Amino acid sequence: MMMTIGRQGGRLAAAAAGKRLFTTCGVSNGVHPLLMQFSAGPARKVTASWIRAPAIGLRRNESTLALGERGHQPETREEKAVGSAGAGGEDKGVVSYWGVPPSKVTKEDGTEWKWNCFRPWDAYKADMSIDLKKHHAPSTFLDRMAFWTVKALRFPTDIFFQRRYGCRAMMLETVAAVPGMVGGMLLHCKSLRRFEHSGGWIKALLEEAENERMHLMTFMEVSQPRWYERALVFAVQGVFFNAYFLGYLVSPKFAHRMVGYLEEEAIHSYTEFLKEIDNGNIENVPAPSIAIDYWRLPPGSTLRDVVLVVRADEAHHRDVNHFASDIHYQGHELRAAPAPIGYH
Ligand SMILES: [Fe+2]
Ligand SMILES: [Fe+2]
Repeated sequence: MMMTIGRQGGRLAAAAAGKRLFTTCGVSNGVHPLLMQFSAGPARKVTASWIRAPAIGLRRNESTLALGERGHQPETREEKAVGSAGAGGEDKGVVSYWGVPPSKVTKEDGTEWKWNCFRPWDAYKADMSIDLKKHHAPSTFLDRMAFWTVKALRFPTDIFFQRRYGCRAMMLETVAAVPGMVGGMLLHCKSLRRFEHSGGWIKALLEEAENERMHLMTFMEVSQPRWYERALVFAVQGVFFNAYFLGYLVSPKFAHRMVGYLEEEAIHSYTEFLKEIDNGNIENVPAPSIAIDYWRLPPGSTLRDVVLVVRADEAHHRDVNHFASDIHYQGHELRAAPAPIGYH
């Protein structure tokens, strides 16, 4: 009995959901050639199956709307193509029913901006004048714990990667992009819980996470992870995210200090990377175009130029995180000092 009711209820719910969910996609007469295919059977049986729009023959960034104009007239005026989905452009466009305007950005020279993952206003010129040698001498028990935690983490990393600095950089960026996001998220929740401003630190930490992720997107262009390296990233992210989350809850001053030391290690690693390029052990290939656009590098820049700007970024992260820890050490919350937003 229960089973029958359940089955009938399920059918009714599916029919209702079919009307509600599927008709809002701008589908008229039950057929939409790009998004889904409906067939209404004689016994009010509605089936829906997702199909992928064929992308063959589409030019880069060409919209599915343009494709539709050749083979299919859109059913509603609201259907719009929203450009290519991926960074650097993929062959498939996305049809938007929701009126979200297609965003087309051009560079200063009038050519099309091809990155969806960041926009021209996110790009910047790295501040290369930053002091790379600054170091926070550990003075308290927590400082020493943070310092030796990072040193201990470096040991297995050195053994695993040895002198493969390209691969090492790529893998370490998958970890480096976590603390800013976790810290920003926790400050965000705290701001909501306590009905108070964050002093801009949510934005500053999320900016750091985004900047680290752009390092990863850049190094992906010059080094492709192998299957076991991908598996390692899965495992390390699972452990590190949760460990840092708990660590930040217990002691933000420790968490920021540890990231400060991680960044000092990152500066060291990129300095070694540069030495390997200069020695000719790593080929100084042309800079990936994503890096040229993100750091506004001149045309003809090379991998060496990219490593230089990434290292400068790491030095800025070092300063931000040691500063954040110092604020806590002085008995304040981060919001007591204006956050270094846009500090690159
Ligand atoms: Fe980084
Ligand atoms: Fe960093």
